[in-house]
Amino acid sequence: MQNKIITKIVKPTINQIAKYIPGESSIDGKENVIKLSSNESPFKVPNKVSVISKKLISKFNLYPDGDSNILKKSLSETFKIDFSQIICGNGSDDILSLIAQAFSDESSEIICSQYGFIYYPIVAKISGARVLTAKTSGLNISCENILGLITKKTKIIFFANPNNPTGTVILRNELIKFISKVPKNIIIVIDGAYSEFVTNKSYSDGLDLVKKFPNIIVTRTFSKIYALAGLRLGWGYSSKSIIELLEKIRGPFNVNSIAQNIGALILKEKQFLMKSINHNKKWQKKLPQLINSLGLKAHGTHANFILVEVKEQNNKNKIISELLKKRIIIRDLYNYGLKNFLRVSIGTNSEMNVFIKALKLILKKL
Ligand SMILES: Cc1ncc(COP(=O)(O)O)c(C=O)c1O
Repeated sequence: MQNKIITKIVKPTINQIAKYIPGESSIDGKENVIKLSSNESPFKVPNKVSVISKKLISKFNLYPDGDSNILKKSLSETFKIDFSQIICGNGSDDILSLIAQAFSDESSEIICSQYGFIYYPIVAKISGARVLTAKTSGLNISCENILGLITKKTKIIFFANPNNPTGTVILRNELIKFISKVPKNIIIVIDGAYSEFVTNKSYSDGLDLVKKFPNIIVTRTFSKIYALAGLRLGWGYSSKSIIELLEKIRGPFNVNSIAQNIGALILKEKQFLMKSINHNKKWQKKLPQLINSLGLKAHGTHANFILVEVKEQNNKNKIISELLKKRIIIRDLYNYGLKNFLRVSIGTNSEMNVFIKALKLILKKL
């Protein structure tokens, strides 16, 4: 079919979508790079966890458990949450997409925050909904501005806490105040992809709020602290009636058998979790200090990445391209509307040292 016909027969909002561009993972087709562009874990899961995938390969002729029971059991034990209120997905982006499909259509409005995760407007537009963007206050998500955009047409509010790419958080009290002001017929999605990295005691990942607020859906991922980005595994937690609805529309076998089993096991690896949290905590403090000492402006973070501000776009492009020459990949945030900003994921100690050394050399020559 001709392009013109295709553009006419597709939902108009789908024509507005710019394809999601993930962080690059190789240079010249070769993977010997330092990848600091997608906020993945720099660590490999413990061997005793990954070896079970070999056993599972012998069962590849069979479908996985469509209900991901083994994984839900492990999630419910680990997070002390109700088994029947969990949905598992092929990454948390699967869950985000299901939410938009279930609760919105061409007559709906969906609210996202400025400088928010770029996949929310995509899932909204796939459903045909109109996207309203709430201005931030500086780099912080503004609950007030979100509330100000609510109309009778509002169906869903999406935000990440901590937010990607800014690394900011909404603390528990403010979160509760905000949720209390949102009408109960609007779904509030609290995306906790980076929840585990937050060390502030006044933070809530939202799981404890589901009982009181049946209209919130918390989404979580195994792609970040649990180091399983390549397996594609995420989950959501909400009131029973919402989960039952999402369960009806998900793909019948949306989580593969390796992801289900390895996900269930990695949750039990407390030492691995603590190692990752402590490593991240160290670099949350150290990396901004080192970057700032080189004359750039690094913002504080509650997640596993640092937002870096440069004076000029030219400088930013030069930094990115010179780092690429040294086989270091970081994230340009131009498509987030953050033209003078970069995002750097926290890597291993040696990756961080190589990155800082390279950045220092590049900045000297600018
Ligand atoms: C805020 C946020 N939500 C969701 C995701 C998607 O995670 P997943 O790998 O589980 O699909 C990401 C990935 O970068 C993210 O930053």
